[in-house]
Amino acid sequence: MCSIIGYYGNETAAPILVKGLKRMEYRGYDSVGVATENDNEIEVKKGTGKVNEVNSKVQLDVLPGKIGIGHTRWATHGKVTDLNAHPHPSNSGKIAIVHNGIIENFEELKNQLESEGYSFKSETDSEVIANILQKNYEITKDVKETILKTVSELQGHYAFVAMFENGQLAAARFHEPLIIGVGQDDFFLSSDVLGFIEYTDDAIYMENGNFVILEKDKFQILDFNGEHAKYGITKVSKEFGDAYKGDYAHFTLKEIYEQPETILKAGEKTADEIKSTADYIRHAKNIYITGSGTSYNSALIAKQILSKYAKIKAEPIMSSELQFSPDIIEDNSILIAISQSGESADVLDAVKIAKKANCKIIAIVNLLTSSLAREADVTIGMNCGPEIGVAATKSFTSQLVILYKIVKYLNEENLKIDFNQTSQSIGKILENPTNVQKTAKELKDISDIYVLGRGIHYPIAIEASLKLKELTYIHAEGIPGGELKHGPLALMDDNVFVIIINPNDSTYTDTLTSAREIKARGAKIIGISDVQSDVYDYWIEIPKISESEFPILEIIPIQLLSYYAALEKDTDPDYPRNLAKSVTVK
Ligand code: AGP
Repeated sequence: MCSIIGYYGNETAAPILVKGLKRMEYRGYDSVGVATENDNEIEVKKGTGKVNEVNSKVQLDVLPGKIGIGHTRWATHGKVTDLNAHPHPSNSGKIAIVHNGIIENFEELKNQLESEGYSFKSETDSEVIANILQKNYEITKDVKETILKTVSELQGHYAFVAMFENGQLAAARFHEPLIIGVGQDDFFLSSDVLGFIEYTDDAIYMENGNFVILEKDKFQILDFNGEHAKYGITKVSKEFGDAYKGDYAHFTLKEIYEQPETILKAGEKTADEIKSTADYIRHAKNIYITGSGTSYNSALIAKQILSKYAKIKAEPIMSSELQFSPDIIEDNSILIAISQSGESADVLDAVKIAKKANCKIIAIVNLLTSSLAREADVTIGMNCGPEIGVAATKSFTSQLVILYKIVKYLNEENLKIDFNQTSQSIGKILENPTNVQKTAKELKDISDIYVLGRGIHYPIAIEASLKLKELTYIHAEGIPGGELKHGPLALMDDNVFVIIINPNDSTYTDTLTSAREIKARGAKIIGISDVQSDVYDYWIEIPKISESEFPILEIIPIQLLSYYAALEKDTDPDYPRNLAKSVTVK
């Protein structure tokens, strides 16, 4: 979504803010802005585009003052325009804010403020926060009272940082992430530790419904009743600052290439948690598995491996859909919530619904300090390091490995899987991408790709089509092989490419037949298989391995194919248009 940042210290704020925003750009990247306070004056610079573009246009990092706020935007209310970019000053110009989230009652508040003579420059919901703060500050003349009054009027979910002309900074958190970085002589406020990790690894993860006021050399954290709130300082893993592309052209490529290592780290040192999860699974009335996007696709795989190898039934639920049928959830059950970020609003909502029904929550999450991890009864870490590319790659295979580990624990006899072997096989695919690169060139001008798979390969086909959509903007769709004749065959002609996921397992022969039926209608076939066939116009070879490992392996060439096709189409693989890495709004 959006990222917000604030700095209060002894250094010039603007360059620090711009650096932090650059690191958090994965959260939203259609506009950016910075405001600083200097000699009791607030100055704002902002514009549309990515941090570097806007910075070279308006020099965001050249602003005076040691106190400042900044923002990268992912538009929700109002188009991508300079005026809608944050920070938003209040009418008097004496307060400026940056906001992440959605103010649900903004129209009501805006109408009220307009009737009192306030005017608005942007179409955003966020600008109301600036003007309510101004109104309340003029009444109370006190930052604490102003924040208390303001949060009592706001509905929705938000994290905002407000900068007052007198040099005070305040920030409030309500269902959106907000972290305080505690430096030697300075403080940082940020949506993500990446915003300040270069300067300090001491962090306070603010609780929901708390706010902080920063003044010279001190801070106070209060709850929305105005009482002092408890907090702890956490040492953040420096590894999360390790978000550099190195020699890779893009984060996405780097993250794809990290997979031989990351799958070996997935769920590392969580033997106790895996055991507890298996115990919960054995005794639960029902097992629900939830997630969004890629993480939901992992849930689909989980259902299949639980039933195939452990004879246990589980129900995958798309997190965003649960609110429309919350009665699905029965008590004394468990919910396995899968999320890379641990901050997806839909997933957190699903957890809330399940908790209401007295379910135990198992979190499979990359960010161990995230809201999801804090809500869970058991947390299993993906340990795959920061994933900056908006398209999930390494987090997906790490999720799968953890799910496999749980199933393996449940029935060691049935599931034989050697992750070292899987890791080596992934390495083999990555070793020589020439064939994938060549195939990617063929996708440059096409408008439709279908990905076909049967059984356990169907969720992989869905995940593959998600990668293709995100990275190439080509319309892509996963098709369950057996359904071809029930409809999708009507779409096949010589303008279409179909990727066939066809490892040599129990689905092989039927899938090959589907490929022939498709080819007979003129479509081009890309076969992902360990076995060559004349039906493939393009064959992308995967190593021969045991049947259980194929799903982890077969997504790798498709991640690569999507990446290289994105380069052919000249799209930005790290930052697909209109998307954001961590979807913290509903
Ligand atoms: C995947 O490529 C997407 N960018 C997206 O679908 C993502 O998986 C989804 O938003 C869930 O994110 P989470 O795992 O952080 O909850």
